[in-house]
Amino acid sequence: MLKPEIEDGQASLADPQFRADVLAGLERRPRAIPARWFYDHRGSQLFEQITELPEYYPTRTETAILQRIAPELARLVPADAALVEFGSGSSTKTPLVIDAMKPSAYVPIDISGDFLRESSRALSAAYPDLFVLPFEADFTRALTLPKTIAAAPKLGFFPGSTIGNLIPHAAVDLLRAMRGSLGLGAHLLIGMDRIKDADVLTRAYDDAAGVTAAFNMNLLGRINRELDGTVPLDSFAHRARWNDDRARIEMHLEALRDVAFEVEGRPFAIEAGATIHTENSHKYGPRDARILLRAGGWTPVAEWTDPDGLFGVYLAEAQAERPAP
Ligand code: TRP
Repeated sequence: MLKPEIEDGQASLADPQFRADVLAGLERRPRAIPARWFYDHRGSQLFEQITELPEYYPTRTETAILQRIAPELARLVPADAALVEFGSGSSTKTPLVIDAMKPSAYVPIDISGDFLRESSRALSAAYPDLFVLPFEADFTRALTLPKTIAAAPKLGFFPGSTIGNLIPHAAVDLLRAMRGSLGLGAHLLIGMDRIKDADVLTRAYDDAAGVTAAFNMNLLGRINRELDGTVPLDSFAHRARWNDDRARIEMHLEALRDVAFEVEGRPFAIEAGATIHTENSHKYGPRDARILLRAGGWTPVAEWTDPDGLFGVYLAEAQAERPAP
């Protein structure tokens, strides 16, 4: 039978960077594929579902904190600040901050242009008087923000503990890049998930309904769909492990038996028990969070948590460097 045309079409339409990252990641030891490739259409849908799982406390906990601190935030952030959101995605938490500090402008930055335009349209509809300036860019590099907001005080917003998905070295680079983009005197409102009981943490990344497992496994499905892969999906399992030394949850795809498969015609073999590392989620206690912020050029000015101390929200300021001590 002829292959449906769409299959061939999809294989040739694959992002060359996806192809390069997968082939190199399977060649390396330990095997690892960058987490950004989770987010195809299906992956993004599954991620939305993760944020609603009973075991996945970060989203609802951070949302409740942001709701509660709105009046304080209004006092701490300069009036008429421009709100700049890094990796805005669907901008679900943005209204909480907009209602709190009534920004003069909103600049959502995201690498996915489609997502960006869709959520900007929705936000403009909800806030007809708000000046929305979507910015399609990779925020991990220092950016030149739109001229229109050059003179305004700035509030950076980086929720979701996304900073935790970077290794600390890269997290510091990113914080410094944000300081460079926003400038001296800017504020940053950032969420960081806290260190807690390992079982609670592990369950948040390995839920009973299997949604996080499906999210992780979708990466293999995507390899099969877009890179002509022959990965036998039933030979892999989702694993979420707490790495106490590095204070992070790691997500892996573990081979349940010796497996052999091809990706774009290249043969690969993985022995039983070996894994492909797909994600890290670093957790920061309050002191860890403050030192990380300072290392990135940000002076902590306020911090909040929930009654159970599960999640931290921090406000920091880009102050002028003072000579030691
Ligand atoms: N940054 C969040 C976290 O680490 C959300 C997230 C990113 C996530 N990648 C993930 C959640 C993979 C589950 C699985 O918790």
